[in-house]
Amino acid sequence: MEAEAKFTAERITWLRPWAPNLFSFRLTRPAGFDFVPGQFARLGVPRAAAHEAQAVAEAKIIWRAYSIASARAADYLEFFSIVIPDGEFTLALAQLPVGGTVYVERTNYGFFTIDRLAPGRDLWMLATGTGLAPFLSMLWEAPLWSAFENLVLVHSVRYPNELAYADQIRAYCTHAKLAAEGATLQYVPVVTRGAAHQALSARIPALLQSGALESHVGLPLDPEHSRVMICGNPEMIAATRPLLAARGFATSRRGKPGQMAVENYW
Ligand SMILES: Cc1cc2nc3c(=O)[nH]c(=O)nc-3n(C[C@H](O)[C@H](O)[C@H](O)COP(=O)(O)OP(=O)(O)OC[C@H]3O[C@@H](n4cnc5c(N)ncnc54)[C@H](O)[C@@H]3O)c2cc1C
Ligand SMILES: NC(=O)c1ccc[n+]([C@@H]2O[C@H](COP(=O)([O-])OP(=O)(O)OC[C@H]3O[C@@H](n4cnc5c(N)ncnc54)[C@H](OP(=O)(O)O)[C@@H]3O)[C@@H](O)[C@H]2O)c1
Repeated sequence: MEAEAKFTAERITWLRPWAPNLFSFRLTRPAGFDFVPGQFARLGVPRAAAHEAQAVAEAKIIWRAYSIASARAADYLEFFSIVIPDGEFTLALAQLPVGGTVYVERTNYGFFTIDRLAPGRDLWMLATGTGLAPFLSMLWEAPLWSAFENLVLVHSVRYPNELAYADQIRAYCTHAKLAAEGATLQYVPVVTRGAAHQALSARIPALLQSGALESHVGLPLDPEHSRVMICGNPEMIAATRPLLAARGFATSRRGKPGQMAVENYW
């Protein structure tokens, strides 16, 4: 009997541009595909030059990791993508229309999930760019609201038009479902290369070092009550992690929950 393919072919059902270099898209959800918010899928697109029928051979497909941005309960999978000017995957992906094919590996991946953290009171979610995606998936889910009293979502982008999902997140801050669970959500946009109303302007490590983030949010960052998840640019993570480690935060390891977890995008 022929072995089942490692992946399925799914269709784009929805596209949402945010800025010239940023867009979101939804795919039909593969039958039986489950995940924990924070995990990623491996997506494949046919190489731009190849005819789609030829591309089905795995060698003709380009594969990349993509954090799932949609809720576990949704009947689609949503993703939030950058377009890298000379990026092999994202250039091919950005050309696909609604109805276009994206391959999805049958397996879900990753350990960037809240169950890897020791129980705590406040969850700080620190993202740069598309590193926002896993936090969106978590935000739409009841387990997050009941696990923490205070949720803080910090999204650092270069320019104001890259603050994707800002309206949805702001609407969520006053959502009755969160209040019913006794949780609060604070959204902290950060714009580092342009003036933006109601946004901080320094990079995340600088905001931590100066204490500006804590005073803006009105909560202290301490290893007893705070848990920190950091996602996106690896240089941002490399700069942020030692600042927190110096304050007593330990990174979660397999079988050893800590106070912080990280996901590097490249
Ligand atoms: C666990 C995991 C989850 C990921 N989730 C996402 C996601 O949800 N959305 C997403 O857009 N990408 C995500 N990525 C990155 C993604 O896998 C690809 O790298 C990205 O799509 C670019 O592919 P590319 O072939 O066009 O360029 P690549 O050849 O893969 O990358 C070229 C360069 O572009 C830069 N770069 C790559 N990805 C990004 C990015 N996301 N933001 C800014 N600069 C970047 C880096 O400098 C990199 O060296 C994730 C990566 C990992 C490891
Ligand atoms: N060549 C081009 O013309 C072009 C155009 C668009 C996009 N791109 C590609 O797209 C990518 C940019 O995507 P992006 O804007 O989402 O990613 P990004 O460079 O990671 O920037 C997102 C946010 O992270 C911050 N950041 C970057 N490095 C940091 C560090 N070491 N410590 C703390 N914060 C840091 C940025 O601040 P700062 O603003 O201070 O850096 C910004 O606020 C680039 O990697 C590039 O490959 C290229």
